[in-house]
Amino acid sequence: MAHTPGNPGLTPAEQAALTSGSDFWHSTPIGSAGLPAITLTDGPHGVRLQASPDDTLTGRPATCFPPAVATGSTWDPALLRRMGEALGDECRAMDVAVLLGPGINLKRSPLGGRDFEYFSEDPLLTGILATEWVLGLQSRQVGASLKHYAVNSQETDRMRISADVDERTLRELYLRAFQRVVTRAKPWTVMCSYNKVNGVYASQYRWLLTDVLRGEWGYDGLVVSDWGAVSDRTAAVAAGLDLTMPGPADAGDRELVERVTDGRLDPALLQTAADRVRALVERAAARQPGEYDAEAHHALAREVAGRAIVLLKNDGGILPLAADGAKTVAVIGEFARTPRYQGGGSSLITPTRLDDPLTEITAATQATVSFSPGYLTGDTAAEEGVTQQDEAAEDQDLLAEAVAIAQVSDIALVFVGSMGETEGADRDGIDLPAAHLELIERVAAANPRTVVVLSNGGVLGTRPWDGSVPAILEGWLLGQAGGSAIADVLFGVVNPSGRLAETIPLKLADHPSYLDFPGENGHVRYGEGIHVGYRGFDAREQEVAYPFGFGLSYTTFEYGRASAAVTMDGVEVRVPVTNAGDRDGREVVQVYVSLPGSAVRRSPRELKAFANVAIAAGQTAEVVLSIDRADLAYWETRLGRWVVEGGEYHCAVGASSRDLRSTAVVKVPGDDARIPLTAESTVAEWLADPRGAQLLAEAFAASAADGGPGPIAGMLANPSLMEFIGSFPLGRMAAFGSGLTPQALQRLLAAAND
Ligand code: BGC
Repeated sequence: MAHTPGNPGLTPAEQAALTSGSDFWHSTPIGSAGLPAITLTDGPHGVRLQASPDDTLTGRPATCFPPAVATGSTWDPALLRRMGEALGDECRAMDVAVLLGPGINLKRSPLGGRDFEYFSEDPLLTGILATEWVLGLQSRQVGASLKHYAVNSQETDRMRISADVDERTLRELYLRAFQRVVTRAKPWTVMCSYNKVNGVYASQYRWLLTDVLRGEWGYDGLVVSDWGAVSDRTAAVAAGLDLTMPGPADAGDRELVERVTDGRLDPALLQTAADRVRALVERAAARQPGEYDAEAHHALAREVAGRAIVLLKNDGGILPLAADGAKTVAVIGEFARTPRYQGGGSSLITPTRLDDPLTEITAATQATVSFSPGYLTGDTAAEEGVTQQDEAAEDQDLLAEAVAIAQVSDIALVFVGSMGETEGADRDGIDLPAAHLELIERVAAANPRTVVVLSNGGVLGTRPWDGSVPAILEGWLLGQAGGSAIADVLFGVVNPSGRLAETIPLKLADHPSYLDFPGENGHVRYGEGIHVGYRGFDAREQEVAYPFGFGLSYTTFEYGRASAAVTMDGVEVRVPVTNAGDRDGREVVQVYVSLPGSAVRRSPRELKAFANVAIAAGQTAEVVLSIDRADLAYWETRLGRWVVEGGEYHCAVGASSRDLRSTAVVKVPGDDARIPLTAESTVAEWLADPRGAQLLAEAFAASAADGGPGPIAGMLANPSLMEFIGSFPLGRMAAFGSGLTPQALQRLLAAAND
């Protein structure tokens, strides 16, 4: 966005006022400049426009689309684009200029309290989906707010914690999705996070907000603070933060004016921030009012939800249920009647309506449906006035009732899940509540045809109970139409195509983040480095319950031989995929890349491309997947830039990160990435560098010719001695009688890096 330079006529006080909100959700209007206030509101899976003046949390009714935990599992960029467009239409209808989303932090740990608001543990999947979401939203002249920039992957101490991450990990994992969305979708705003990154508050981090975001990625939009993230206004403006929210922030505005007056803040920085707010306000003014069709959006929410459900297990093809098959169906679990469909906190949407699985299942089948709640939830216990002491006894009664209906039914559908995830708190484990575990075991014992349907915003452990049931649907949090979407999948109206966007571990302690989450005393060390999520499980060759990318279908797909070729832009991978069953379906074809023998440590496999393709029964699709050359690059810390290493890349194509069906090898030319030689470079590093090796050989040959070789010339030719002296920095060889004088070293350095 080209911002209007100069804000002519605005006083420093007006500029300062423009750079903070006027209230919780509005920018400050500047009448003299003809700038109205604009509305920024949450986000991300619906529009939460504050309904009453004294309640900032409850929104007016709006479509509650599935949260990112579900949309991430669709692996479908086109669907995300449509959802973004629909959100844009709702924003227009409610006069919202900026919707505060999408949230694109990585799910670093399954305990992350906001994992339900984030797409994936993988930056490519996150970046591709979020790009389409933003493009869809902004096609309606409504701005996105890409959040939370950056490294906001936990809730514990979220307003102060320092996420301590090495630069390669930061670039390749935590910033990569931001880079992709910023460069490809140009979000109108980027929201800085609460936390510190390597000791510096994101809101005050010039390297993050200016050098990287604007300098390297060419961002020209506006940076807004997370709500309450700014503790030092002057430092924030100096770092490149444009808009501080929420407002009013009169004291901070006055502080900025004083700092400009006393010379401690460059007036140009304040002016730039004010210019960017003005540009955003003017951009928003171009938006036409709109309206939306609530029914059509509910239908879209249902479609997205149906595509998000992951079929984890389906032994004996027990699913789908035939509409006229079973005579009696037992629906068990309070979540079937009172669905869990979104998480708590700032993203909480007031839905326009709400589908529940019990009603939808009953409508979809001719069978007799009986229901038992199976367990108490906090809400039902409160409603029924059950005290904590009585809860266990009450649960036992409900359990007995559930078992009784399961026993006499042809099939039992058990709805269980987590009791609630919310912004502001991390989870303390991944196990199902004890009452739910017992319910599964007892119902499965009473009826072998038991199907478990999960509702959860963060990963749930599935061992050992998944061994006792033939079928499991991972139903995440599915938004307001989740109930009908679950019925669609149970009865085969929708053939499941959701895939895991995060690994389900055998147990929490296996997770790569386990020992370094959530940190202590103000710091969390990202100790697993680049090995986030499946990368870490693969690197340590660990078994998992269900791998990243996994999900079953009611049909089966067969893969032919993959091929790969270098193109102008990167690598193109092709593979024929056949729907070998008798049902139409969708396959998510995934490409994982590795570079055996790489000069740097890498994870064994990294997702580099995927395609979500509909393939009719019996048909074969020739699937073409493009890998951008930039996505093959690693962050070379010694050069401070991205480098594509030359070599033979293995492109493994398959249906999940652990179900790779065919591998194509392609030779990719590398970037010129010579590391300059210094006096600190070791003898081995000099010898590994063609020019360095030649110069060393010449230098020592020359000194030998002068009659004073020193021991070094012989050493260089002796492999076992080289093991010993190879790690010596060349500059320190002088001390070992090498005859390498300081002058000779300087000549070598000059020649080596000429
Ligand atoms: C959250 C943001 C949200 C903002 C406004 C913050 O607490 O971290 O995601 O957009 O509040 O509600």
